[in-house]
Amino acid sequence: MSRANVVFVTGGASGIGRAVAKRLASEGASVVVADRDVKNGEETCESIALTGGRSIFQEIDVRDRSSIRNAADYTTERLGGITGLVNCAGLVTMTSLADLSEDEWDLVLDVNLKGTWLVTQEVAHDIKKSGGGSVVNISTIEAEVVVSSAGYCQVHYNASKGGVKMLTKALAVELAKSSIRVNAVAPGPIATDFVSLQGITSPETLEALKDRLLIPRIGQPEDIASAVSFLLSDESSWITGVHLPVDGGWLTR
Ligand SMILES: NC(=O)c1ccc[n+]([C@@H]2O[C@H](COP(=O)([O-])OP(=O)(O)OC[C@H]3O[C@@H](n4cnc5c(N)ncnc54)[C@H](O)[C@@H]3O)[C@@H](O)[C@H]2O)c1
Repeated sequence: MSRANVVFVTGGASGIGRAVAKRLASEGASVVVADRDVKNGEETCESIALTGGRSIFQEIDVRDRSSIRNAADYTTERLGGITGLVNCAGLVTMTSLADLSEDEWDLVLDVNLKGTWLVTQEVAHDIKKSGGGSVVNISTIEAEVVVSSAGYCQVHYNASKGGVKMLTKALAVELAKSSIRVNAVAPGPIATDFVSLQGITSPETLEALKDRLLIPRIGQPEDIASAVSFLLSDESSWITGVHLPVDGGWLTR
């Protein structure tokens, strides 16, 4: 199996992005951990180094084109041409419609949706120069259904990730001529800081979540890393434009 071997991972400082970075490095990829969180980003690289893997940290804000460009240029210089991209940086604020401010709307849409577009626009240019490759966007089941995780839904989050779903398809069409496949993974509830942020870590809520799932456990970041690894690899060479739920069966009923 050949693999996208220089992979740019946004949001690689923690949670799902960190698990993706570690998984890809363990499979022999050179990984760029690209995140705004310097301390945790460097920690990801240190843990990769401890297992003999190769990675570099690059400080970026996915809303800032010049930080992305600088990181991509530095990557090419240090590791060679980029062949894979994982758009994992994302956030949510737990705010009901009535209380949602324009600033919060802009923050969540800018990081989750605009950031995914901006990073892909910059890095696709490098992947094309490398002769093609694969892009994986981290979406959510909440691009398909509304989940009221705090007793109310988060309309700005649903809107941002619904946008990521269609952005994935549009990018797959647009980038096919450059031999770049574009897919998305849509996680169900995964045990990261993101989940505790959503206030769903009480024993009662965790039990209720397990009842909702066909595979009765909360997902782990490694469950998502497996799917990302597959979609980056040549094992998925005839798959593009899909929005793949990795959700323990959440969307099945
Ligand atoms: N945890 C879940 O249950 C879950 C479920 C579905 C989808 N997701 C998605 O998975 C992705 C990763 O979430 P996670 O659970 O690992 O959360 P996390 O908070 O652990 O990781 C998010 C990472 O994104 C980085 N980030 C945020 N804003 C950034 C910016 N402007 N520029 C650069 N980096 C930035 C953070 O520093 C952090 O390292 C998100 O896109 C999220 O929407 C998570």
